[in-house]
Amino acid sequence: MAGGPGVYVFGQEEAKELAEVIDGKYLFRYGLMEDKNFKKKVFTFEEEFKRKMGADYCVATSSGTGSLMCCLSAIGIVPGDEVIVPGYTFIASISSIILMNAIPVLAEIDESLTIDPEDVKKKITDKTKAIMVVHMLGNQCNMDEIMKIAKEYNLYVIEDCCQACGASYHGKRLGTIGDVGAFSLNFFKTISSGDGGAVITNDYDKYERAFGFHDQGHKPNRTGVEVGNRSIVGMNMRMNELTGAVALAQVRKLDDILTTLRTKKAKLKAMISGLEGFTFRKINDEQNECATLLTLIFDTKELADKFCAEVKSKTICHSGWHVYNNMEQILSFDGGKRYHKNMLAQTDDILERAVNISVGVVDGGLGSAFGININSTDEEIEAVGKRIIEVVSRITDRG
Ligand SMILES: Cc1ncc(COP(=O)(O)O)c(C=O)c1O
Repeated sequence: MAGGPGVYVFGQEEAKELAEVIDGKYLFRYGLMEDKNFKKKVFTFEEEFKRKMGADYCVATSSGTGSLMCCLSAIGIVPGDEVIVPGYTFIASISSIILMNAIPVLAEIDESLTIDPEDVKKKITDKTKAIMVVHMLGNQCNMDEIMKIAKEYNLYVIEDCCQACGASYHGKRLGTIGDVGAFSLNFFKTISSGDGGAVITNDYDKYERAFGFHDQGHKPNRTGVEVGNRSIVGMNMRMNELTGAVALAQVRKLDDILTTLRTKKAKLKAMISGLEGFTFRKINDEQNECATLLTLIFDTKELADKFCAEVKSKTICHSGWHVYNNMEQILSFDGGKRYHKNMLAQTDDILERAVNISVGVVDGGLGSAFGININSTDEEIEAVGKRIIEVVSRITDRG
């Protein structure tokens, strides 16, 4: 089955939270705290999520895309502002910037498959307002360098944590290092409520703006129809109680999910370490990534293609989603003036040699249809490891 680790471990916990909401017949995220039928699942999810992440504030939303727009609103983005974003990411990182009438400026990735700080510096202009870093494939961006650059040039940092819920970097959970962090709870994420999302921040003003943006400009946790107290316009990106119920059960499983994924990934990685023909993607904080994927970067494009043909997978550049070259809406967005195919040579070179092996995220759209999942047994992990060894040995003529 395709999906993320969260949905692979659905069980009685999600069912219990959902049943409580259904029993109360009250599905809206707002209600009177003293109302027995109001089960406060979204509110409780926000409380537990922010505590788990070590953030002061959290807004639950209906998607990761909505969360990113809330983050952009939270930092006060205005039309014409430039936001630097990597060319390897899900389209929503880029489209959320366009939808806020700001300008995405595409930057290269490095061998961690996350934004290259050296290229970020080259892309800064007097219009740059923010850097949107994307913690791709569960891996942390090089946040020490990014925060240094942001400080030097007085830029905001938005962390797109949609693919890296729960990972941390040098002791801090992702989403709490920059100004605001965005999360997705869609079907393919570390934890999932089908769809859904969250925004976290440590700054009250940004929280208030993010909250208002997700709900017609209202102040946090309104209790009714409030008029006269709204400073911004927003749109409905609210999470409902059914989604909140599942999200709540899932956030309680997050640390166990991460522990399991890290153990299984370590096992698979150890089995295939030392083979010639590829290196592993650089991980910026090895012990604390999500471990949802194991990425091989082959020495040549030819080797990567041969490997994929054997295991019926695709190199990342051909996996469909997540690569700027495959985003025709972005490439044609301004008549091809700012964006065009193959504009990021370093990114293209890495992605045509890179192959994702699933550990917890099984997703053909990410190029990870081959591999293991969170429930794989030791025997299954060994079988996948042996298959990788056999194929790599053969295509490198070392078999
Ligand atoms: C890096 C990244 N950003 C943003 C999103 C958007 O999240 P959603 O699908 O919940 O809108 C995703 C989802 O795939 C993602 O992977």
